[in-house]
Amino acid sequence: MSDLSRVDKIVADYKEQKTPLIYILKDVQAEYGHLNDEVLTNVAKATNIPLSEVYGVATFYSLFTTEQKGKHIVRCCNNAPCHVKKSKDVLNKIKEYLGIEVGETTPDNVFTLEFTSCLGLCAVAPVMMIDDEVYGNLTPEKAVAILKDYKLKGVSNA
Ligand code: FES
Repeated sequence: MSDLSRVDKIVADYKEQKTPLIYILKDVQAEYGHLNDEVLTNVAKATNIPLSEVYGVATFYSLFTTEQKGKHIVRCCNNAPCHVKKSKDVLNKIKEYLGIEVGETTPDNVFTLEFTSCLGLCAVAPVMMIDDEVYGNLTPEKAVAILKDYKLKGVSNA
């Protein structure tokens, strides 16, 4: 079970204000990285807002995620210009290296793999984005080398 005491603190910070639930959820997600069932149940308890309402807000807005994600979010572009430049080969190698499919998180919680729509960098296709960094002119080998660097950083920061 996670340490959920910080949910109470965040809710207490908003106690004197008539603050929409969305701001509380935004702060709670910033603290925990996700809004899973356990976290949302604690938000409902701490705010005295029905769980159904808390859950409804958390699942309505795309800025919220109800699943725990990895430390690094890897987003692969597979739109037409990247596709033509063999982005599928890059994606398949990334999936093989990480041992996960798109939409999944590695068991060590270091990487989550997702698709992204065009990043506007088609001139350097194929492209992937890791957190806020964009990498272009990828080959399968180059993509894996980049991921290995992140993994090393992730382990040393753990
Ligand atoms: Fe991939 Fe534009 S299609 S960056």
